[in-house]
Amino acid sequence: MTEAMLEVKNLNKSFGRKQVLHKISFSCAPGRIVGLVGANGAGKTTIMKAVLSLTSSTGDITIDGQKSTFDQHQVLDEVGALIEYPGLYPYMSGRDNLKLFALSGKQQDIQSVIDALHMGDYIDTKARSYSLGMKQKLGIAMAFLNDPKLVILDEPMNGLDPQATKELRDLIVAKRDAGVTFLISSHILSELQKLAEDLIIIDHGKIVQETTMDALLEANNHFVVVSTTDDDKAKQVLTDAGYKLVEGDEVKIQTKTDDAVADVLKTLTDQQVTVTDVKHEDEDLEGSVLKLLESDDQK
Ligand SMILES: Nc1ncnc2c1ncn2[C@@H]1O[C@H](COP(=O)(O)OP(=O)(O)O)[C@@H](O)[C@H]1O
Ligand SMILES: [Mg+2]
Repeated sequence: MTEAMLEVKNLNKSFGRKQVLHKISFSCAPGRIVGLVGANGAGKTTIMKAVLSLTSSTGDITIDGQKSTFDQHQVLDEVGALIEYPGLYPYMSGRDNLKLFALSGKQQDIQSVIDALHMGDYIDTKARSYSLGMKQKLGIAMAFLNDPKLVILDEPMNGLDPQATKELRDLIVAKRDAGVTFLISSHILSELQKLAEDLIIIDHGKIVQETTMDALLEANNHFVVVSTTDDDKAKQVLTDAGYKLVEGDEVKIQTKTDDAVADVLKTLTDQQVTVTDVKHEDEDLEGSVLKLLESDDQK
């Protein structure tokens, strides 16, 4: 068994009398992109701050095989992070902010991060003039400096336009391919859809599910909607053939896979129903997570 890059066990955290994290346990395997998903207030930032010793907590945190505690966290030198708003020196240029942050042996990495995130046009102007998205990118760039083994990004897509989001995604994937492990939070699951391989879903400070993006997508329902010359007959034929139809005016068949179409069409034409159009619909990911959360509430 390969050792986890990050292992969190029984993490509890309270603010005053309010407990916001309840026995959070999960692990991130090396070289994986792990998504931490949950609604606003679910506890994502608090988990990340606890891992980074930015807030106290009880429980065990092990990073790259070494214990990390609130007071003893040497191993955090191997971790890059962006949590909430990046702390920048406004009267320094973006490049000088990066230079200040990079260790002396790692100054040469600065330019490659600037290039990867396309920050060249403004990196030599003062950070105070930056837009939210530009500041966000600078904060992300900092998280990639000093050769981290683990990178923790809290809602990194916040404030980024679609182009910048794609650049960030490409950079994360390239670093993952080079062996870096990622823990990335978002309250918007679809933002992580193209990126995260493993998923930790939290709600009200508890882990609801640890799964993979593939498994989640697999469990999603697909629908095939057909238009025919005789919808009533089509519904009858399909019901008789054992298909599950969604109630409503349309002839809408619920399936688990996309390859049901050929069978549906054959079933209908065999019974002399003429199909004039076929559409695919996917249940969105957001919906399947909501279902998960609802079923959890009923437990
Ligand atoms: N410094 C704080 N003092 C009191 N409550 C806090 C503090 N920080 C976060 N909380 C509470 O902890 C819960 C989790 O917050 P947070 O980790 O920021 O959630 P998320 O990042 O998922 O939106 C929320 O109910 C929030 O109000
Ligand atoms: Mg947060």
